[in-house]
Amino acid sequence: MLVVQSCFKSYVSGKQTFPVLKNINVEIKEKDFVMIMGESGSGKSTFLNCISTLDQPSSGQVLFKGEDITKANTQRIQRFRNKDVSFVFQENIMIDTLTMIENVMMASLEHSTEVRTRAHELMVSMRVDHVQDKFPSQVSTGERQRCAIARALMNKPAILFADEPTAALNPQFAKEVMDILTALNEQGQTIVMVTHSLKIASYGNRFLLLQDGFFSVDECLKGSQKEKQARLLELAKDIL
Ligand SMILES: Nc1ncnc2c1ncn2[C@@H]1O[C@H](COP(=O)(O)OP(=O)(O)OP(=O)(O)O)[C@@H](O)[C@H]1O
Ligand SMILES: [Mg+2]
Repeated sequence: MLVVQSCFKSYVSGKQTFPVLKNINVEIKEKDFVMIMGESGSGKSTFLNCISTLDQPSSGQVLFKGEDITKANTQRIQRFRNKDVSFVFQENIMIDTLTMIENVMMASLEHSTEVRTRAHELMVSMRVDHVQDKFPSQVSTGERQRCAIARALMNKPAILFADEPTAALNPQFAKEVMDILTALNEQGQTIVMVTHSLKIASYGNRFLLLQDGFFSVDECLKGSQKEKQARLLELAKDIL
């Protein structure tokens, strides 16, 4: 679904160039639940941003269903971000003067009965329908994060990108979010996620380890969560 070919990314500061991604080649397949780990500063967010049009690789191709999105014009990029993919971050911007359901509906850029119904249904499945008429300042961080996921799903994205979506949550809220993402993936949702936690990574079905600018590990994860955690402990030992 998403093929990354010869992807390089460097940041330039004055006369110095800092290479972050060095020749990344990877394919994200339908129904993947990819977990990306790597040391802080290794380039995980840079990678996610480069493959999702939030940033541009310095060179290389990112093919979404065969189309090189690094070469797309502004209009196409906007459509890609509105229709084909969506994002959940550690902190998600909500508009304080809108209710939670209105914030969820924002993703669709229209205000019809159908849109409201879809937002409500998603909030039911994220178990946050009880806060739909509250304002962002009146809900817990876990509820807020589940609302952000509902919003991210409004336009039925082909790929859901998530950059440390559980990092600001306590273990109970983090588990709730991960159970929801797992259920979504079981229904066929492709997810590409960054995490710093082995426990969280064990919810995925594929593991990528970013080291020295490329993926030193790319492995399918199988078995129970305990078995996956044991395997991840071996695979990620360099960064623990
Ligand atoms: N806009 C930028 N300009 C210059 N350097 C940047 C920029 N964004 C990131 N970097 C640098 O690129 C490197 C990779 O950053 P990135 O944010 O991708 O790391 P990360 O793996 O997501 O880290 P973390 O786990 O802390 O979120 C870091 O050294 C960072 O300082
Ligand atoms: Mg990051």
